[in-house]
Amino acid sequence: MLILGIDIGGSGIKGAPVDTESGQLTAERIRVKTPEVSDPAAVTEAVGTVAEHFEWSGPIGVGFPGVVRRGEIGTAANLDKSWRGNNAAEAFARRTSCPVAVVNDADAAGLAEARFGAGKGVPGVVILVTLGTGIGTAVICDGIVVPNTELGHLYNNQGVDWELIAAEAARTREDLKWAEWGKRVNAYLQDLCMFMNPDLIILGGGASRKFDKFSDKIDCGVPVLPAELRNQAGIIGAALYAETHAPMPRLHQTASFPGAVR
Ligand code: BGC
Repeated sequence: MLILGIDIGGSGIKGAPVDTESGQLTAERIRVKTPEVSDPAAVTEAVGTVAEHFEWSGPIGVGFPGVVRRGEIGTAANLDKSWRGNNAAEAFARRTSCPVAVVNDADAAGLAEARFGAGKGVPGVVILVTLGTGIGTAVICDGIVVPNTELGHLYNNQGVDWELIAAEAARTREDLKWAEWGKRVNAYLQDLCMFMNPDLIILGGGASRKFDKFSDKIDCGVPVLPAELRNQAGIIGAALYAETHAPMPRLHQTASFPGAVR
């Protein structure tokens, strides 16, 4: 099935049509900047711009950087706080006139990596960790995602939210060397493993492309692999989610019956 996948991030909103059978993008993705004031009106408009670029009229899946329950936003750590309590799926559907499903961005990436990437066929518990503006997590057990886990906001032993010190954004903000940042990521992964005991960790987000720059600092007792779909995982996974969750229009079938029909 052909579905438009859109990934809303703290700095960019990316989208491309996805063939959900193969997990491939069928056109070059576009990226628009996340609006400075990232409130519902501005982000909805940007999502509309991405859909218009592809002259889209089919189903759309959107990955959102916060807790999402049945289209409604619960948290938005790196977007405008006014998102809380808003129904994003309804707003995007109104703007695009398309059926829309919205899912947490890390859960979307986890779905994609489990189906087509580094987690494909891996039994047991796989945790995908996205390192970008924030830290997102997807917990996957035998291919099924437990949604909205938010393990990037665990506190370290100083009581500091790990996202603030180990996200990719912390590396650039503090101008850290890869090795220095890699040690922080490893300390975070050690905490994560202590609580979750996964069988495999997949690192996604922008930093997954640079894994070789800090992989020698990673030693947390379980295998750690970079995401295979790189930063397209969010787009692909959002489309996969919509395949089963977007409100698809019903096809009305008519048949003739040889007699009176009431
Ligand atoms: C949010 C998560 C999101 C992650 C990555 C965090 O700040 O709380 O919901 O998945 O950033 O965007």
